[in-house]
Amino acid sequence: MRMLLTVAFTLSTFFTGTLSAAADEAAEMAKQIEQGKQAYSLYCVTCHGPSGDGKGLVGASLNPPPRDFTKAEFKYGATDQDIFDVISNGAAAKGGSPLMAPWGAVIPEADRWALVQYIRSLKTAN
Ligand code: HEC
Repeated sequence: MRMLLTVAFTLSTFFTGTLSAAADEAAEMAKQIEQGKQAYSLYCVTCHGPSGDGKGLVGASLNPPPRDFTKAEFKYGATDQDIFDVISNGAAAKGGSPLMAPWGAVIPEADRWALVQYIRSLKTAN
Protein backbone atom coordinates (compact mmCIF):
# COMPACT_ATOMS: atom_id res chain seq x y z
CA MET A 1 0.00 0.00 0.00
CA ARG A 2 2.73 2.42 0.99
CA MET A 3 4.61 1.47 -2.15
CA LEU A 4 1.54 2.15 -4.27
CA LEU A 5 1.08 5.55 -2.68
CA THR A 6 4.69 6.42 -3.37
CA VAL A 7 4.33 5.39 -6.99
CA ALA A 8 1.11 7.39 -7.36
CA PHE A 9 2.71 10.43 -5.75
CA THR A 10 5.80 10.23 -7.97
CA LEU A 11 3.67 9.86 -11.09
CA SER A 12 1.42 12.76 -10.21
CA THR A 13 4.32 15.14 -9.49
CA PHE A 14 5.94 14.02 -12.73
CA PHE A 15 2.85 14.76 -14.81
CA THR A 16 2.09 18.03 -13.06
CA GLY A 17 5.67 19.13 -13.69
CA THR A 18 5.52 18.18 -17.37
CA LEU A 19 2.16 19.86 -17.83
CA SER A 20 3.24 23.09 -16.21
CA ALA A 21 6.44 23.13 -18.30
CA ALA A 22 4.30 22.75 -21.43
CA ALA A 23 2.00 25.53 -20.23
CA ASP A 24 5.00 27.80 -19.55
CA GLU A 25 6.30 27.11 -23.04
CA ALA A 26 2.93 27.89 -24.62
CA ALA A 27 2.68 31.13 -22.63
CA GLU A 28 6.19 32.14 -23.68
CA MET A 29 5.34 31.42 -27.33
CA ALA A 30 2.13 33.47 -27.10
CA LYS A 31 4.15 36.36 -25.66
CA GLN A 32 6.72 36.15 -28.49
CA ILE A 33 4.00 36.10 -31.14
CA GLU A 34 2.34 39.17 -29.61
CA GLN A 35 5.70 40.99 -29.45
CA GLY A 36 6.43 40.02 -33.07
CA LYS A 37 3.01 41.21 -34.18
CA GLN A 38 3.71 44.70 -32.86
CA ALA A 39 7.03 44.99 -34.71
CA TYR A 40 5.40 43.53 -37.84
CA SER A 41 2.63 46.13 -37.87
CA LEU A 42 5.25 48.88 -37.64
CA TYR A 43 7.89 47.69 -40.10
CA CYS A 44 6.63 44.86 -42.31
CA VAL A 45 2.93 45.23 -42.97
CA THR A 46 3.25 47.74 -45.85
CA CYS A 47 4.92 45.09 -48.00
CA HIS A 48 4.01 41.71 -46.52
CA GLY A 49 0.39 42.70 -45.85
CA PRO A 50 -1.88 42.44 -42.78
CA SER A 51 -2.47 38.69 -43.29
CA GLY A 52 1.13 38.05 -44.38
CA ASP A 53 0.19 37.14 -47.95
CA GLY A 54 2.74 39.56 -49.45
CA LYS A 55 0.09 41.85 -50.92
CA GLY A 56 0.52 44.90 -48.72
CA LEU A 57 0.01 48.44 -50.08
CA VAL A 58 3.58 48.62 -51.36
CA GLY A 59 4.25 44.90 -51.63
CA ALA A 60 1.52 44.22 -54.19
CA SER A 61 3.52 45.96 -56.95
CA LEU A 62 6.99 44.58 -56.18
CA ASN A 63 8.96 42.16 -58.30
CA PRO A 64 10.11 39.79 -56.89
CA PRO A 65 7.10 39.90 -54.58
CA PRO A 66 7.49 39.95 -50.80
CA ARG A 67 7.30 36.46 -49.36
CA ASP A 68 3.80 35.07 -48.74
CA PHE A 69 3.97 33.96 -45.10
CA THR A 70 0.62 32.17 -45.30
CA LYS A 71 2.40 29.59 -47.49
CA ALA A 72 5.65 29.64 -45.52
CA GLU A 73 7.80 28.76 -48.53
CA PHE A 74 11.15 30.41 -47.93
CA LYS A 75 13.81 30.99 -50.60
CA TYR A 76 16.78 31.47 -48.32
CA GLY A 77 16.20 28.65 -45.84
CA ALA A 78 13.37 27.85 -43.44
CA THR A 79 15.06 27.39 -40.07
CA ASP A 80 14.48 30.03 -37.39
CA GLN A 81 18.11 31.08 -37.86
CA ASP A 82 17.72 31.44 -41.67
CA ILE A 83 14.64 33.63 -41.30
CA PHE A 84 16.29 35.66 -38.53
CA ASP A 85 19.32 36.21 -40.79
CA VAL A 86 17.23 37.54 -43.69
CA ILE A 87 15.40 39.91 -41.34
CA SER A 88 18.69 41.08 -39.80
CA ASN A 89 20.92 41.29 -42.90
CA GLY A 90 18.41 41.72 -45.74
CA ALA A 91 17.67 39.50 -48.74
CA ALA A 92 20.44 41.14 -50.83
CA ALA A 93 22.97 39.51 -48.48
CA LYS A 94 21.71 36.18 -49.90
CA GLY A 95 21.61 37.40 -53.50
CA GLY A 96 17.95 38.46 -53.28
CA SER A 97 16.01 41.70 -53.57
CA PRO A 98 17.45 44.80 -51.86
CA LEU A 99 13.84 45.86 -51.19
CA MET A 100 13.85 43.31 -48.39
CA ALA A 101 16.08 45.60 -46.35
CA PRO A 102 18.41 44.72 -43.46
CA TRP A 103 16.60 45.48 -40.19
CA GLY A 104 19.43 44.60 -37.82
CA ALA A 105 20.27 48.22 -37.05
CA VAL A 106 16.63 49.24 -36.64
CA ILE A 107 14.87 46.46 -34.73
CA PRO A 108 16.28 45.08 -31.45
CA GLU A 109 17.45 41.45 -31.56
CA ALA A 110 14.70 40.14 -29.25
CA ASP A 111 12.06 41.69 -31.51
CA ARG A 112 13.68 40.10 -34.58
CA TRP A 113 13.42 36.65 -32.95
CA ALA A 114 9.83 37.46 -32.00
CA LEU A 115 9.18 38.37 -35.66
CA VAL A 116 10.36 34.89 -36.69
CA GLN A 117 7.71 33.32 -34.42
CA TYR A 118 5.02 35.75 -35.57
CA ILE A 119 5.78 35.05 -39.25
CA ARG A 120 5.50 31.31 -38.58
CA SER A 121 2.13 31.86 -36.89
CA LEU A 122 0.79 33.36 -40.16
CA LYS A 123 1.02 30.06 -42.02
CA THR A 124 -2.44 28.90 -43.10
CA ALA A 125 -1.78 26.50 -45.99
CA ASN A 126 -0.32 23.03 -45.49
C1 HEC B 1 9.76 47.45 -48.90
C2 HEC B 1 9.06 46.19 -48.82
C3 HEC B 1 9.39 45.21 -47.70
C4 HEC B 1 9.34 45.44 -46.34
C5 HEC B 1 8.96 46.73 -45.62
C6 HEC B 1 9.69 44.19 -45.70
N1 HEC B 1 9.93 43.22 -46.65
FE1 HEC B 1 10.40 41.28 -46.28
N2 HEC B 1 10.51 40.94 -48.27
C7 HEC B 1 10.33 41.89 -49.27
C8 HEC B 1 10.62 41.31 -50.56
C9 HEC B 1 10.54 42.02 -51.90
C10 HEC B 1 11.01 39.98 -50.31
C11 HEC B 1 11.47 38.95 -51.36
C12 HEC B 1 12.98 38.96 -51.44
C13 HEC B 1 13.50 38.06 -52.54
O1 HEC B 1 12.76 37.24 -53.07
O2 HEC B 1 14.71 38.17 -52.83
C14 HEC B 1 10.93 39.78 -48.87
C15 HEC B 1 11.19 38.58 -48.23
C16 HEC B 1 11.13 38.38 -46.88
C17 HEC B 1 11.37 37.12 -46.23
C18 HEC B 1 11.60 35.80 -46.93
C19 HEC B 1 13.01 35.31 -47.06
C20 HEC B 1 13.03 33.96 -47.74
O3 HEC B 1 13.89 33.15 -47.37
O4 HEC B 1 12.21 33.67 -48.59
C21 HEC B 1 11.23 37.33 -44.89
C22 HEC B 1 11.37 36.32 -43.78
C23 HEC B 1 10.89 38.72 -44.71
N3 HEC B 1 10.84 39.33 -45.94
C24 HEC B 1 10.63 39.31 -43.49
C25 HEC B 1 10.33 40.65 -43.33
C26 HEC B 1 10.12 41.27 -42.04
C27 HEC B 1 10.12 40.55 -40.72
C28 HEC B 1 9.89 42.59 -42.28
C29 HEC B 1 9.67 43.69 -41.27
C30 HEC B 1 10.72 43.85 -40.28
C31 HEC B 1 9.94 42.79 -43.71
N4 HEC B 1 10.21 41.59 -44.31
C32 HEC B 1 9.75 44.00 -44.34
C33 HEC B 1 9.90 43.18 -49.08
C34 HEC B 1 9.75 43.81 -47.87
